[in-house]
Amino acid sequence: MSAVEIPAGLKELLQGYTVAVLRRRPPNLVEFAVQHFTLLLESQRNDPRGKKRGAKAGRKGVTFETNSNNKDEEEEEEEEEEEEEQDTTRCTTGTYNRRVSVCAEAYNPDDDEDEDTEARVVHPKTDEQRRRLQDACRDILLFKTLEQEQFSEVLDAMFEVLVKPQEHIIDQGDDGDNFYVIEKGVYDIFVRKDGASLCVGKYDNKGSFGELALMYNTPRAATIVATHDGALWGLDRATFHRLIVKNNAKKRRMYEAFIECVPLLKSLELSERMRIVDVLGARTLKDGDRIITQGDTADCFYIVESGEVKITIKRKTKAGQQDNAEVEVARCSRGQYFGELALVTNKPRAASVYAVGETRCLVIDVQAFERLLGPCMDIMKRNISQYEDQLVALFGSSDDLKH
Ligand code: CMP
Ligand code: CMP
Repeated sequence: MSAVEIPAGLKELLQGYTVAVLRRRPPNLVEFAVQHFTLLLESQRNDPRGKKRGAKAGRKGVTFETNSNNKDEEEEEEEEEEEEEQDTTRCTTGTYNRRVSVCAEAYNPDDDEDEDTEARVVHPKTDEQRRRLQDACRDILLFKTLEQEQFSEVLDAMFEVLVKPQEHIIDQGDDGDNFYVIEKGVYDIFVRKDGASLCVGKYDNKGSFGELALMYNTPRAATIVATHDGALWGLDRATFHRLIVKNNAKKRRMYEAFIECVPLLKSLELSERMRIVDVLGARTLKDGDRIITQGDTADCFYIVESGEVKITIKRKTKAGQQDNAEVEVARCSRGQYFGELALVTNKPRAASVYAVGETRCLVIDVQAFERLLGPCMDIMKRNISQYEDQLVALFGSSDDLKH
């Protein structure tokens, strides 16, 4: 019997397709294969170095745009192979290493000169996919401080992930691979402590998760489980580093001085305050824009960075119905916070909040609020009791706070 010769590159080609399938879980394997190999072919045609790159790109299930690197191709390939081998064993601090969870300090992107020349990841999308992706990403805080160009790069690099009920998207203790934005679905958050796994919250059809392990090079801090069929958009670790972590260094420089003078955060350590900066987003508002609507479900906490906001309450009528007149009860300016009450009490928003003139607010989501602002809880609770006094002084009762 004559030996069958396996064509060079076949194994890599099929492995690349398999990895892409496992990552993206397409509903139709044949359709996905056509899409995958067409993209691969296109990238080979467009890239003079495409043949070799193509096989590598296929292995990662991605398409790469041109990489401004003059190194000899063979040399580069060998180095990449070597690096991949070392990745599984190397144990260094300071350098980026996906296998090793080193410390909780933020990775310093300024140390990493190579990242700007790293290949740009592009997952082509249909118009309909791009529209769904843009909708899902509209309110993602980590994207809010990106320049338009960086944001488009993020969108280009994201890939669709369909999930099934009970599927573990992330397991606590694992190494971080991707950051995820929720398009739809409900996801429970479990944190294991002293041997017991506790459900500490859930994401309900919006939000994002999986940023911590990528930002701080630590093991996954929680387990995330889908409760229904769901859809996510993933962003690979390298792109997350290149765009989001690098932007965080800029954010730290921008907000460090301001965050230092927010009275609520004074009791925190500097590193705790910087962790808040890492995950916050910013919103610029025009005069009269409504930031919070009384009665809505809450998912964010706010700090006024500049300008002013006014807080209004619609009073209840005798029958428990609200009448239409909104009464201003307070104002907040630079350094003051609002939107904590509903998060602390787990009730709907107790008041509406409007921008007065052009205003800028820093925004923190409920998961980060619970994770990072625990030490400030006493101060917030003390201030909440003052709301009642405020309402009693204004209306003769604080019933408006009791939903
Ligand atoms: P990461 O540690 O990369 O993976 C698990 C993710 O769960 C984590 O990032 C956060 O995005 C998210 N998460 C939500 N709530 C918590 C929590 N209380 N503690 C830790 N992680 C949480
Ligand atoms: P929250 O209920 O989440 O959203 C509206 C916010 O208005 C509320 O949190 C408080 O931060 C803020 N607020 C300020 N004064 C009052 C008040 N007297 N009653 C209720 N909310 C107030």
